[in-house]
Amino acid sequence: MSATEAMNTNAAAAPESTPQVGRVPGVRIVGTGSALPSRTVTNDDLAQIVDTSDEWISTRTGIRSRRYCDREQGESELTLARDAARRALEASGHTADEVGICLVASFTPAAATPSTACLLQRELGLAEDTLCLDVNAACAGFVYALYVAASLLEHTPQPLALVVGAEELSRVMDFSDRSTCVLFGDGAGAAVLERAADAPALTATWGSRGNDEALFAPGVGSVDEAGEPRPSYLTMDGRAVFRFATEVLPKCTSEVLQAAGVDASDVDRFVFHQANKRIVDVAVRKLGLDPARCAGNIDHTGNTSAASVPILLDELVRTGALVTPARVVMAGFGAGLTWASCLVEVASS
Ligand code: UT7
Repeated sequence: MSATEAMNTNAAAAPESTPQVGRVPGVRIVGTGSALPSRTVTNDDLAQIVDTSDEWISTRTGIRSRRYCDREQGESELTLARDAARRALEASGHTADEVGICLVASFTPAAATPSTACLLQRELGLAEDTLCLDVNAACAGFVYALYVAASLLEHTPQPLALVVGAEELSRVMDFSDRSTCVLFGDGAGAAVLERAADAPALTATWGSRGNDEALFAPGVGSVDEAGEPRPSYLTMDGRAVFRFATEVLPKCTSEVLQAAGVDASDVDRFVFHQANKRIVDVAVRKLGLDPARCAGNIDHTGNTSAASVPILLDELVRTGALVTPARVVMAGFGAGLTWASCLVEVASS
């Protein structure tokens, strides 16, 4: 047998990799909130500055408009995070002093430090012994943060965690690149996670695959391997990310269902990251899901990265499309590359 044949034989015989599964008993979401900035930008508005059209953007992505922060009005990633978090707390019926953990998922924080989570401590009047930190897993960030918060809740005296996804992507977009600038928007969403003995388990799966070519956004003074400055704006190989997304979204969704021992028909709602309606359509088809239970909101938000899952969740709750208590699967994917899914109960306060 040649070396190549031996390698192929080994490859064929290699067992399917089993995903890591996290299971945290006794946690549920008891309040959601969201905040979109004031400035609405339509596809026609963008067609004034790059060679594009409403027809191209809406048929290729499902996006019709998105929101951008108006800096002159004082809007920023932090103010959106604060407003979303306040609404989530209000919806939960709980107060800031009951929060022991505050996590913010974002890859567009205003500063490397202090973290947005730390500034939220001040803005929301959280106790000084609140565990505050930012989580950067790009568009999968909120689902990652939810699982991290649930795990930490097992060991903290306070019974509540505030989990926020907040982005100001308009700050890192190249408004001369039509292949990226039409896709993204700003916004924030938040959830209050509660530890309760009578709550079901939160089940999660996740993954990461280091790749800085498919999707890249600058950090402070980013340089490449040769020490040359990297672009100061987001760059993306859209087709590569599309292939990745349509691979991992159905995969991590079915993995979390399997890990929890739950049938898709017993899930009230699937809340998928809103990157492109076509990506969700592929996942829905591959998984054989009812499209009505997977409907999104990308038409008026664009892709808000880590904020997209909690914004959609909050819209579903507030419009009554999600009747609580509900069993919800959330899944995100994006730069890193990263992906994550979780099954969690969403209850009323
Ligand atoms: O949050 C996670 C990260 N992001 C994603 O998940 C995004 C994943 N990727 C996508 O959603 C899609 O790949 C895009 C929406 C980015 C692009 O859609 P596509 O159907 O894959 O288009 P494409 O990149 O294959 O481009 C098709 C054509 C090209 O022209 P030619 O080469 O065929 O002449 C592009 O230059 O469309 C052109 N094009 C545009 N035309 C009008 C690209 N952007 C635009 C535009 N307006 N805005």
